[in-house]
Amino acid sequence: MDPALNPYTPGSGRRPHSLQGRDREIEAFDLLVARAKARRYDRGMILSGLRGVGKTALLNHLRAHAEHHGWFTVRLEAQNSESGARVNHKQLATGLRHGLRKFSTKHALKQAAEGVMGLIEGSSLSVAGVSVRAPASRSAEDTLFDVEEIVEAASEMVRSKGVALAVFVDEMQDLEADLTAALIVTQHRASQEGWPFYVIGAGLPNLPAFLADSRSYAERLFLYCKIGPLDDAAARQALVDPAESVGGRYSPEALGKLVAAAEGYPYFLQEFGSAMWEVAAGTPFQLEDADLAIEAGTALLDRGFFPSRWDRATPAERKYLRAIAATGETAPKTSSLSIAQTTAGPLRAAAIRKGIVYSPEHGRISFTVPGMATFIARQIDTDE
Ligand SMILES: Nc1ncnc2c1ncn2[C@@H]1O[C@H](COP(=O)(O)OP(=O)(O)O)[C@@H](O)[C@H]1O
Ligand SMILES: [Mg+2]
Repeated sequence: MDPALNPYTPGSGRRPHSLQGRDREIEAFDLLVARAKARRYDRGMILSGLRGVGKTALLNHLRAHAEHHGWFTVRLEAQNSESGARVNHKQLATGLRHGLRKFSTKHALKQAAEGVMGLIEGSSLSVAGVSVRAPASRSAEDTLFDVEEIVEAASEMVRSKGVALAVFVDEMQDLEADLTAALIVTQHRASQEGWPFYVIGAGLPNLPAFLADSRSYAERLFLYCKIGPLDDAAARQALVDPAESVGGRYSPEALGKLVAAAEGYPYFLQEFGSAMWEVAAGTPFQLEDADLAIEAGTALLDRGFFPSRWDRATPAERKYLRAIAATGETAPKTSSLSIAQTTAGPLRAAAIRKGIVYSPEHGRISFTVPGMATFIARQIDTDE
């Protein structure tokens, strides 16, 4: 097929041609928007799941919906970078400034926004900003105080328009402790004081536990949504819809084959769909095309999706990862891994920091991407 027309979107956070199977989450958010119009405020939302299931795409979709309804929105992608501490604080400050500018222009509230803008610019969040406090004296209390103050001031303004202020945080498990606490505590105050403020977070499956570790009442502050693989019908639509939009069709056998191979994971569906578009000589796509597409798609995954984590691991960390893969379990006990327990601790910590594995519950370990164990099994061990 004509590569210029390839309608699939393999990648990170790329907006899919059609966002399949997320009606429940979208409806829940719709309700937040509708209730905000009536000055009724609910809980924030947390989306959690493995890499490649479509959290970022969904988060961006919800944010676009909020923007469309005139909300004051801020987007933050948390980074646990060693290079620059406080990048997240700065991102939040910048996001608040830009969001406020857009909001106040749209609603002709320039004057009312000036006071809020002053608070943001003078806050400890702005690293290079005009903070009156010396950098050394910035503390967790400052962060909390500043976030609360800004949200309180903005609340009045957004309430007058029947909308809300929402901070969309992607990769939220990577947020540092003081910012996490500030957002949770402010969400808590918002629910008590009736402030139109929401934290909408997305992250790995351990995000709910991460939030509860910060403040135990976080369990009751949010609507928690587990984002998993698509069901069979949605997975089929995720392949069929994009193709049909540019005149491509699947034979039932070819479609069944790709759906089975992707196991419902949006990233895999996009990669296989895209490969199908590349290999098929014409439409409707046939079973032989599907075999070729799965082969080509898997090769692409082996060059991009999986190595983006694997290549970041040191030889010692890879040994640890191989030990996890060798168990054949999704969430093996760390004590059951065939690796010297003395070295396991630091390796585990490094692999978690690099986003390759996470701890689904105390004493257990899992890969953050689906299919990682079989990818590892396909790799020749050159580290020995
Ligand atoms: N609901 C969906 N239906 C179809 N494709 C999707 C859906 N959600 C995401 N995708 C696609 O899946 C891939 C991974 O999405 P992304 O949002 O980056 O996942 P995550 O943030 O969970 O790692 C992207 O190629 C995206 O276009
Ligand atoms: Mg993402």
